Amino acid sequence: MLTLKNINAGYGKKKVLNDVSASFKADSITVVMGPNGAGKSTLLKVAFGLLKPYKGKILFEDKEISPSPQMFVKNGVFMVPQGQRVFKDMTVRENIELATHFWKSRADFETEFERVLTLFEELKPFLKLPAGNLSGGQQQMVALARGLINKPKMVLLDEPSIGLSPKLINDTFYKLKEIKDQTGTSFVIVEHNLKTLLPLTDFAYILKDGAVVYAGKSEGRVLEQMMSAVFK
Ligand SMILES: Nc1ncnc2c1ncn2[C@@H]1O[C@H](COP(=O)(O)OP(=O)(O)O)[C@@H](O)[C@H]1O
Ligand SMILES: [Mg+2]
Repeated sequence: MLTLKNINAGYGKKKVLNDVSASFKADSITVVMGPNGAGKSTLLKVAFGLLKPYKGKILFEDKEISPSPQMFVKNGVFMVPQGQRVFKDMTVRENIELATHFWKSRADFETEFERVLTLFEELKPFLKLPAGNLSGGQQQMVALARGLINKPKMVLLDEPSIGLSPKLINDTFYKLKEIKDQTGTSFVIVEHNLKTLLPLTDFAYILKDGAVVYAGKSEGRVLEQMMSAVFK
């Protein structure tokens, strides 16, 4: 659905990505792993149109595009950036509503709000509370609910596990897989190292020093060897 071809990108004179190609497919979960500073967030920013590459092509649904966040949101692609995820002083409900200001009908919103809450039952008692009162895992659910209320084709997530306990990381990944299976939404997940959760994903990329050193299925001996080499 979203393809990067031979991307060089960076910040001013600082080159970060060196000839990176990647393809994020429909109806699948793709994980992009790599050490800190490898260029994972930079790759996601380029893919979502937040950073213009020096060189390379970006294709969306087989057409070459000049990406921008606005264009992606219109086409059903959302990004949940690294770090700050909710507006802490706004209620949980308001945080989710934020993504829907351009909707035409209130009734449509209520229907979709109910639908999204069935995916995150745990949030129901907290809808009127400030989002800042919730646990890290629950705040992550709010950010995901905001991304999912518009029935996206694809969601890009930058290190959703940061600040979560191992159990919550597990729960979040099972939830993403369940959402993908139920709704067909694809996910691109950037994570430092995700060995134990790889079986929940379909495709994996490993980035090291701004270059792709593995691209393929989320299983197998080649991937294992590359994981041990990169994350020693
Ligand atoms: N806004 C920026 N300006 C200059 N350099 C940056 C900026 N953001 C990231 N970098 C640098 O680019 C490299 C890759 O960063 P990043 O893509 O955030 O890596 P990762 O997400 O894999 O940890 C790092 O050396 C980082 O210091
Ligand atoms: Mg990062």
